[in-house]
Amino acid sequence: MLETKLGIDFGSANITVYAENRGIVRREPSVVVCDRYTGQVIAQGEEADRMKEKLPASMKVIYPIKDGIVQDYPTALYLLRNYMNAACKGRLLRPSVLMSVSGNVTELEKKALFDLVTAAGAGRACFIEESLAAAAGAGFDLKLPRGSMICDIGGGTTECAVLSMGSVVVSETVRIGGNDLSNAISDYILHEHSISIGRSTAEEIKKTVGTAVYRNEEVAMIAAGKHRDTSFPVFFEISSTEIYWVLKSYMDEILQCVKSVLEKTPPELVADISVEGLVICGGTSALYGIDRYLEWNLGIATSIAENAPHCAAQGLGRLLKNLKELENNGLIFATAEDESDDDE
Ligand SMILES: Nc1ncnc2c1ncn2[C@@H]1O[C@H](COP(=O)(O)OP(=O)(O)OP(=O)(O)O)[C@@H](O)[C@H]1O
Ligand SMILES: [Mg+2]
Repeated sequence: MLETKLGIDFGSANITVYAENRGIVRREPSVVVCDRYTGQVIAQGEEADRMKEKLPASMKVIYPIKDGIVQDYPTALYLLRNYMNAACKGRLLRPSVLMSVSGNVTELEKKALFDLVTAAGAGRACFIEESLAAAAGAGFDLKLPRGSMICDIGGGTTECAVLSMGSVVVSETVRIGGNDLSNAISDYILHEHSISIGRSTAEEIKKTVGTAVYRNEEVAMIAAGKHRDTSFPVFFEISSTEIYWVLKSYMDEILQCVKSVLEKTPPELVADISVEGLVICGGTSALYGIDRYLEWNLGIATSIAENAPHCAAQGLGRLLKNLKELENNGLIFATAEDESDDDE
């Protein structure tokens, strides 16, 4: 085998690489630690994630993707090149890369992404909406003339789409994801308790007592932080009820995103969805009660996809197996030469 086909989901929180016939070969946080003065990379992925909040002044942390869009080109290139090289070790030809992109990227941003992926070593590249990839990964039968609805709630964005016959019929993206929920938790604790906490503690609070629904049986945890006035270390208790109110406006925005997709969906497809239900995926679909919150407010049965955090990458893998189907839906792999011909 000379050529490798890769599916890459380069998210705001995690990068996942799927290699044809091998499955997911890598999943790591999309983060890099580098030297503040020379720019030299010191750590990436899991290692960078572990050290990110304990750095000396000479180092800084970079998140190359924000809200589904490339924020730091050199760092994004570094990560992609590394992960692609590792996945293609021993292969002679440059890989063909199928990459999922947020539904809100502009043509210009897509062009920049194409340049990025080819600069990182891809021979050919093709982009598809993350929700289409997620639907394929969630096991939807995409060929049927039947409406299905998916909502991918990730780290930086929430993407909701209705699909039929292998294509997106209606979609909507909001720039709200798990990272915003964690930021809201740290802001609340600073303002209400005068305690400053790090990003990792906010994540832990979100995963432990975070909730999308009001919990009659309240749960609480003890966390550590630094007092804003004294700078002394402090332990404090935080409950699910407090966090419920902190996250409520974000949950409402996610709900609004799903509602606006339904509003634009033709009636026959809405009828299909009322039978098939809504499927949610992405890392933030693990937030306590988010499926029930959507189900109660929409009146549509809502379930969490199996393997929810990996749906987009698994879907890319499934689509790579059937390139003909992709082509039928207008998704064609292009080389750098094809792109420059188009520009002329
Ligand atoms: N148990 C959990 N409860 C709540 N949130 C969680 C849980 N586990 C993971 N998350 C959140 O999921 C998010 C990462 O999800 P995911 O990997 O789908 O994002 P991404 O694909 O990188 O982002 P995007 O697609 O928005 O660019 C993080 O914000 C993380 O904190
Ligand atoms: Mg994602």
